[in-house]
Amino acid sequence: MTADTIAINQLMDKFDGHHSVWLFGYGSLIYKADFPYLQRRPASIGGWTRRFWQGSHDHRGTPEAPGRVVTLIAEADAICHGMAYLITPEVFAHLDHREKNGYLRLATSMTFEDGDQTEGLVYIATADNTAFLGAASEQEIAAHIARSTGPSGPNSDYLNHLASALRELGRHDQHVFDIERHLAALRSE
Ligand code: BEZ
Repeated sequence: MTADTIAINQLMDKFDGHHSVWLFGYGSLIYKADFPYLQRRPASIGGWTRRFWQGSHDHRGTPEAPGRVVTLIAEADAICHGMAYLITPEVFAHLDHREKNGYLRLATSMTFEDGDQTEGLVYIATADNTAFLGAASEQEIAAHIARSTGPSGPNSDYLNHLASALRELGRHDQHVFDIERHLAALRSE
């Protein structure tokens, strides 16, 4: 599948006719909401785990030297914590463009902290998109992030902002925090 997913995402009609839709954010959306929203609530989705396995050609790297950003990988019994936004459908045009590098909108149920559940959408980059990089050790990912930069800034800023945002949410993510630790060690070498 091409890494430019704008046209495919515009075909997604699951919530057509709805005045507002919940969007689950698990990466930069947790700390960077550069769009209007009606509500913002911590939430989680089940059966998915956050991994720095997607290549970034347009934000934290370049086509020649892609950075590494998060996607969700299916894993039974896993729970991914993040932030949900209630947005109007027009906002998806902005997000489809911002996240055009391999991410597809997928319908999902999500659970808020009070246990309430709702249906909504999440952007996921699957293994069949051409920007997908796949698994590597946390140490290798940290080294990759340390040498990557793109139009949105250093890849390390993305990792550090995400780790801080998860801490603020009171959520532990071993994968993210291990990469953060390796990155800090590389910096002090
Ligand atoms: C997110 O933060 O949920 C997100 C991550 C990658 C692409 C789009 C959204």
